[in-house]
Amino acid sequence: MEKRTEYLDEKLIAYAKSDIYPFHMPGHKRRVREEADPYAIDITEIDGFDNLHDAEEILAEAQQRAAALYDAKKSYYLINGSTCGILSAVSAATGRDGTILMARNCHKAVYHAAYLRNLKTRYLYPVITRFGIQGVITPESVEEALREDPGIQAVILTSPTYDGVVSDIGRIAEITHRYQILLIVDEAHGAHFGFDPYFPETAVRLGADLVIQSMHKTLPSMTQTALLHVCSDRIDTRVLERFLNIYETSSPSYVLMAGMDRCIRLLMEKGTELFAEYATQLKTFYQNVDKLHKIEVFRGWELPETECFRFDPSKLVISAAGCGLTGQQLYQILLEKYGLQMEMCSGEYVLAMTSFCDTGEGYERLFAALSEIEAESSTAFIDTSMDASVGGADLTGFISRVYKRNEKQSEIAQAVDLPGEEIDLVAAAGRIAGDYVYLYPPGIPLLVPGERIDAGTIANIRECQKKNLNIKGVLNDRINVVI
Ligand SMILES: Cc1ncc(COP(=O)(O)O)c(C=O)c1O
Repeated sequence: MEKRTEYLDEKLIAYAKSDIYPFHMPGHKRRVREEADPYAIDITEIDGFDNLHDAEEILAEAQQRAAALYDAKKSYYLINGSTCGILSAVSAATGRDGTILMARNCHKAVYHAAYLRNLKTRYLYPVITRFGIQGVITPESVEEALREDPGIQAVILTSPTYDGVVSDIGRIAEITHRYQILLIVDEAHGAHFGFDPYFPETAVRLGADLVIQSMHKTLPSMTQTALLHVCSDRIDTRVLERFLNIYETSSPSYVLMAGMDRCIRLLMEKGTELFAEYATQLKTFYQNVDKLHKIEVFRGWELPETECFRFDPSKLVISAAGCGLTGQQLYQILLEKYGLQMEMCSGEYVLAMTSFCDTGEGYERLFAALSEIEAESSTAFIDTSMDASVGGADLTGFISRVYKRNEKQSEIAQAVDLPGEEIDLVAAAGRIAGDYVYLYPPGIPLLVPGERIDAGTIANIRECQKKNLNIKGVLNDRINVVI
């Protein structure tokens, strides 16, 4: 039979009518209704509508509203996502061929910035905590690295992480400033911070110099919308703007910018109530799942601050390892049997992303599904074929193995720009990586160009493949290496 042509718009419209519930980004959960037809408000930089690259009028005012809302000195609308804010912030905070101190669990955008500026990278490794989740970057590790290497020009951390772990930004800022160094915080997952005490405080108010937030991840704002906040006088905004001009599209969408302005306005007018209701919904959900015995929902606030300084409760990190299920299996069951689309799965857990646009019905469906999975686990769902690293036997092992420390042979730019070749993964031990290997999501590299591939790396890639995780950088069992 001839395959029917699928068109993206038709597929999306049909999907929007389905009963599948979105526990994923964007934060508007497809529930915001615009009065205007998007085409009717889609313009270019015509008279009266300002220009984002040199904002003086309506867009300058809109950005000032964002700055006032978050208590930033200056805020920039980003229409290429947090990615463009990270590229600009790192570029502005470092010199060409300079040195950056970065968390090893940074998003790939940070690595790309290091590549573009030909930076030397020094890494900070997060502690590993419950379910194998990557925990905080400790202030002590920042201080130690700065003491050892006076060439470091800036520090960048991801806080919160994809899983909701927040580092002690206040203390880290105090340390970096003592060394006359800038602190950049990738708060892509924290645009909802600071509106209600149930959620952590934003790094903007804790002493960071530059903070990047994806509005689209956790707020009712369209995909690709983000903010770059300047929070101190330590950064030269002319240099920052030069890089924004390079990395941001020259045609920022007015439809997206109008949505951002609308979202900021909503937060200014009703943020307090909306976040209070949201906190109540989440508290009820956590109380409900407390009744489960085999399924566990991560409670970062119960961990010592040295592992999880603060936790973002909006991230529902759910493990059914006690039912004998891997993250991938739980993800599949929730989708196929219960119509619940998770944001992602990792070795041992799934991640449900929430926002204040979620409905009571969504939380109830998730709780009912988890209760049923647990009730049936002793019969239908236990997979006895699983290896010992799955399930309760080894909760923290997988992620620490996958994100192990690799031997660095060269800087990223040298390895990427050298001639490379594609070889069989089995033959790669001892070779130097010519490209990234990462799980997507979350987009954190487990292998960075310039790092030596060893038997452990190959075994880890095999383990990810076996767990059916979405691994990038290895295609048909072939990997890029430097010649
Ligand atoms: C921690 C982190 N930083 C940055 C980004 C990039 O954000 P954006 O997709 O808005 O460009 C992501 C995307 O997933 C992320 O998880």
